[in-house]
Amino acid sequence: MKKYNYQNGEKASRATLKNLIITAFAFIALVSCGEKTKPEYTVLKDVNITGPVNPALAADGEKVFKEKCTACHKYADKYVGPPLGKVTERRTANFILSQILYPEQMIKNNDTIKALIAQFPTPMANQHLSMDQAKAVYEHLRAIAANGGNK
Ligand code: HEC
Repeated sequence: MKKYNYQNGEKASRATLKNLIITAFAFIALVSCGEKTKPEYTVLKDVNITGPVNPALAADGEKVFKEKCTACHKYADKYVGPPLGKVTERRTANFILSQILYPEQMIKNNDTIKALIAQFPTPMANQHLSMDQAKAVYEHLRAIAANGGNK
């Protein structure tokens, strides 16, 4: 009788242990899923620009920047839009090139841009740059950032 009880007790505690382990795994799975932050929305997803700044490309980009961007952007100060002197330090190339080439989609879908837009009265207008022009402007902004965020 004593033995029988003991075995039953052992079975019960094994079952409890099994349940505990299952619950623990389920919990870990749930927590790790929750921790996975949703990747930020960008239109372009595979731009990867690293390494030293290309001065010739940056110089081309500066011309485009003066023509198409300085109506609204300065390097160090807020203007019609946010300052861009250090934007390459706070945003990815995918983010910046998406914003330059497809501002309408970014305004609709990117949470950072949605939050920014609330701080500026007029949204950024598409300047219809080519991908090459946009990359040159990006290079110019990298050069400015490397210079401390201003000219
Ligand atoms: C009509 C004004 C206007 C023009 C022209 C304009 N922008 Fe903008 N830009 C804005 C505003 C306003 C924002 C804030 C977010 C928004 O409205 O989309 C912004 C946001 C940005 C951002 C994101 C900044 C951040 O902190 O994340 C980048 C990068 C940018 N602009 C680059 C450019 C470049 C490069 C050009 C030139 C090709 C340009 N913009 C032309 C108004 C403008």
